Amino acid sequence: MSLATRSVTRIFTSSIRTNNLACVQSKCFSSTQATDLKEVLKDLIPKEQKRVAEFKAKNKDVPLGQVTVDMIYGGMRGIKGLVYETSVLDSNEGIRFRGKTITECQAELPKAKGGDEPLPEGLFWLLVTSQVPTQQQVDWVTKEWNNRADIPQHVVTMLNNFPAQLHPMSQLSAAITVLNLGSKFAKAYSEGVPKSKYWEYAYEDSMDLIAKLPTIAAIIYRNLYRDGTAVGAIDSKKDWSWNFATMLGYDNKQFVELLRLYLTIHSDHEGGNVSAHTSHLVGSALSDPYLSTAAAMNGLAGPLHGLANQEVLIWITKLVEKLGETPNEAQITQYIHDTLKTSVVPGYGHAVLRKTDPRYTCQREFALKHLPNDNMFKIVSQLYKVVPKVLGELGKVKNPWPNVDAHSGVLLQHYGMKEMNYYTVLFGVSRALGVLSQMIWSRALGFPLERPKSLSTDGLMAIVAGQKKAGTEAGQKTKAA
Ligand SMILES: CC(C)(COP(=O)(O)OP(=O)(O)OC[C@H]1O[C@@H](n2cnc3c(N)ncnc32)[C@H](O)[C@@H]1OP(=O)(O)O)[C@@H](O)C(=O)NCCC(=O)NCCS
Repeated sequence: MSLATRSVTRIFTSSIRTNNLACVQSKCFSSTQATDLKEVLKDLIPKEQKRVAEFKAKNKDVPLGQVTVDMIYGGMRGIKGLVYETSVLDSNEGIRFRGKTITECQAELPKAKGGDEPLPEGLFWLLVTSQVPTQQQVDWVTKEWNNRADIPQHVVTMLNNFPAQLHPMSQLSAAITVLNLGSKFAKAYSEGVPKSKYWEYAYEDSMDLIAKLPTIAAIIYRNLYRDGTAVGAIDSKKDWSWNFATMLGYDNKQFVELLRLYLTIHSDHEGGNVSAHTSHLVGSALSDPYLSTAAAMNGLAGPLHGLANQEVLIWITKLVEKLGETPNEAQITQYIHDTLKTSVVPGYGHAVLRKTDPRYTCQREFALKHLPNDNMFKIVSQLYKVVPKVLGELGKVKNPWPNVDAHSGVLLQHYGMKEMNYYTVLFGVSRALGVLSQMIWSRALGFPLERPKSLSTDGLMAIVAGQKKAGTEAGQKTKAA
């Protein structure tokens, strides 16, 4: 059946709120019952290419704001310089995946049989197509990923030979890098495939890589913490998260549900964060999706980004060692002040968010439902009351509220995953869903090589001095007139 004859059931309209402005972006993304994601994309991509081309042609000279010296020295905060389609972050309400909040995703995305949390397969479909998938479409993704999950022997051998001291994120990044031996994108590019077809190979690599990530991550886990025991085979009837949990060695149903939620909410956080931006940049050089995703993982491995989830649990564990399991508010306050003498408080603050991260809130709701009496959860709840107060008093922290990393570790340790060094790997497996769905679109929309202009301090000073002089002269002329 051709796409043209497939039934088009409704016109999809999504609202995306940016900086509190409710701007409605109407898309001609027709919802379809077709289950083959690539076929769906073949239908969507030409329409979106046309929409973007028309928008660009009509508005190419419209300015979008100014860049100040402070922004340049301040990590480019607030500079509008990237197009990233799959999600948008609002500083007050948090992330929206293709216009949908986390709560909406939890309500609308298909679940596993008997489960309450969304399947990451559905979130991936949403990110790629801007459409909430049907159960059949999600089942198709699960099947597709299960079929593509085999790991080449050279990757297994490499992982087995790594020293146990090598951080699991370094292992993950290395494994993703060497998987590019099988890159269909790199092969097609070397054979001179036309630019209009790049997205198809980016899609193939993305599907292959996502399919293989749980097995790779599970091998790393078992090599490091389970004496190198075998991960076992993928069960073709089960979903991506169930297989991941099982390969890690966990059979608790609640843990599987937690993993489904975890892998959904860590996937995407618009384009400017370190991991997403890195993959976007590296991909713009037409490095294949494996190389681009490995680069993202190296950024995620930094303590100010994804590694914070490991740091949080280490920090809370030390708190318990020092103060016991029922510390009072004064003791916690002192512990935070002691921390601030040498480092930041992990899990709190954000470069964009200015309120509690909804990814924190949904994990808190999971904890309230499934583990309300867990001692570590109780401490996390106490910290929620105390940390914002202390950080607020410093007067310099723009956002004293918790981010996603403040909560994830205590949930994982509750189900027995106490290996904190490993937590960022779970984040990485999830983040691949976001960066790869954007990569498909980046190639579909023909995004060029990224090359912003950099300036030396001397160069900046000269520009500023020139502008001041011009301003003074203009002022004098006005006075004289
Ligand atoms: C996320 C983070 C890197 C954002 O940095 P940012 O955009 O520069 O944040 P701000 O603009 O609020 O920073 C202003 C000041 O407050 C400090 N600050 C911010 N968050 C802080 C925290 N959690 N603990 C202590 N100080 C903090 C900054 O270090 C900076 O201090 P400085 O001027 O002495 O260098 C920062 O909040 C942080 O380090 N948080 C802890 C690590 C973490 O949880 N990372 C995961 C993020 S999802």
